[in-house]
Amino acid sequence: MQTAAPAVPPASESAAAGHQTIARPPLLIGIPQETAPGEKRVATVPEVVAKLVKLGFAVAVESGAGDASNFADDTYRAAGAEVVPDATQLWSRADIVLKVRPPTPNEVRMLREGATLIGFVWPAQNPELMQQLAARRATVLAIDSLPRQLSRAQKMDALTSMAGITGYRAVIEAANVFGRFFNGQVTAAGKIPPARVFIAGAGVAGLSAIGTAANLGAIVRANDTRAEVADQVVSLGGEFVKVDYEEEGSGGGGYAKVMSEGFLQAQREMYAREAKDADIIITTALIPGKPAPRLITAEMVRSMKPGSVIVDMAAEQGGNCELTEPGQAVVKHGVTIVGYLDLVSRLAKQASTLYSNNLLRVVEELCKAKDGRLDVNMEDDAIRGLTVLKEGNITWPPPPPKIPAAKPKAAAAPVVASKSHGHGPGAPMSAQSLAIVFGVGALLFLLVGLYAPASFLSHFTVFVLACFVGYMVVWNVTPSLHTPLMSVTNAISSIIAIGALVQVAPPLAGSSADRPNQVILGLAVFALALTAVNMFGGFAVTRRMLAMFRK
Ligand code: NAI
Repeated sequence: MQTAAPAVPPASESAAAGHQTIARPPLLIGIPQETAPGEKRVATVPEVVAKLVKLGFAVAVESGAGDASNFADDTYRAAGAEVVPDATQLWSRADIVLKVRPPTPNEVRMLREGATLIGFVWPAQNPELMQQLAARRATVLAIDSLPRQLSRAQKMDALTSMAGITGYRAVIEAANVFGRFFNGQVTAAGKIPPARVFIAGAGVAGLSAIGTAANLGAIVRANDTRAEVADQVVSLGGEFVKVDYEEEGSGGGGYAKVMSEGFLQAQREMYAREAKDADIIITTALIPGKPAPRLITAEMVRSMKPGSVIVDMAAEQGGNCELTEPGQAVVKHGVTIVGYLDLVSRLAKQASTLYSNNLLRVVEELCKAKDGRLDVNMEDDAIRGLTVLKEGNITWPPPPPKIPAAKPKAAAAPVVASKSHGHGPGAPMSAQSLAIVFGVGALLFLLVGLYAPASFLSHFTVFVLACFVGYMVVWNVTPSLHTPLMSVTNAISSIIAIGALVQVAPPLAGSSADRPNQVILGLAVFALALTAVNMFGGFAVTRRMLAMFRK
């Protein structure tokens, strides 16, 4: 457990005279105004200020920091923040600075020595900035370095929340330039066909664009190199268009990899066909740490109908379209190509709200004691991934997070899992342990066969077979929306429900079976009630999760 360098003397310090306890003032969180051109977001909105104060921190905001996203100084004051007149004062006083964009060299100079900075940093792209921050002995948590594959990290995932906004705004920008409706209409003045939208890349931003365009009534088609996103595209109202070439597009961690030339050739042929049909193309394709793949050639742009629109969301990484001009909207061959770099800032209020919620979750993780202090726990996978500098020492890149690796499909071993070792579905057992398990099982069966009554033996055989079949069925299910634990508890609930129903059901006409006694009947009804809670609760949770993806 290590604590951020306090700006003040340690707590409970005894004053020499009178043994009086001096209360330690809370750490001060500073929110400066963003200085990057066109950046309208603010790192913390007033609603979150109030929550930071509840965590025990003091909060100072630079005057005017929230103006561009419609949060006035007075709303910050009302939430409990101090509004300071200028950047120098804010940076030099803050123990913790919450920011959106990476700090400029001038801002780093103003950062007080030993302070903590939380925001976008992009350590791989900004080695000089890392050195400057190290010289200030800063502790830096880069929100872009969050290990997104940890489910616990989702609440802190600003890349996802910002990408969702960017995808939405890309469609709105396209609609703004496009000279027609998105939805088809039949009116007295004529029939209007629905717009045809093609989305290249169905990651977070792409999926958001698909949902938005489909909701506006367009016919949406989409492609991605990762085949696993096909179902997500369909669930949002789009149609997944496959490239006629077999190659796995996943590069690990949910990200794409650079594809072979053969694949890219086949993909270009498919994109050329789509471009001719599409009214709007929105490109979102990115590969981490690599230039954006070139997917839309000048030839494809030329083949599009006049008045069509391309929104290139990869403009900052070089663009998915050959003719994109980063930061500009240009018309080429009658097609408007939008390469804005500030799509997220064009919804500044929404973006600031979501971003500051993400940062609040980070601060909550760092301040579990709610005492206005920071504990940068490097044993915690999420915090370790986020921390790129610790008290001036560069800690980036982090070691891979300690999460169970996904089972590679090709290496699917015979499914015999060892429960005693707590292995997940499909964990292979050694041949020796397998032989021991079968040996002990056969011996037990022999003993039961020798001594138990015949009626018990027949029931027991059915029970063992049912357990085996149930085990094989449940253990081979790949949990998608739920965890392996949920699949197993659901399966167990179903087995209990069937058993209880058999007990509760009246004996069949002509059957010689007795009705179970009242205790057994009571237990069966109780078991039914419990499993019903689990099963219907499961349905309700699944419904809520699906609803989150729908609108
Ligand atoms: P991104 O912004 O790096 O890439 C956007 C999309 O472009 C990706 O879907 C990628 O497959 C696609 N792409 C790359 N090259 C392409 C090409 N040549 N042609 C067509 N498409 C191409 O990725 P983003 O949106 O930040 O995240 C991608 C994925 O990461 C998500 O879809 C999700 O599966 C995973 N993820 C998982 C999280 C979690 O487990 N909690 C959180 C966030 C993301």
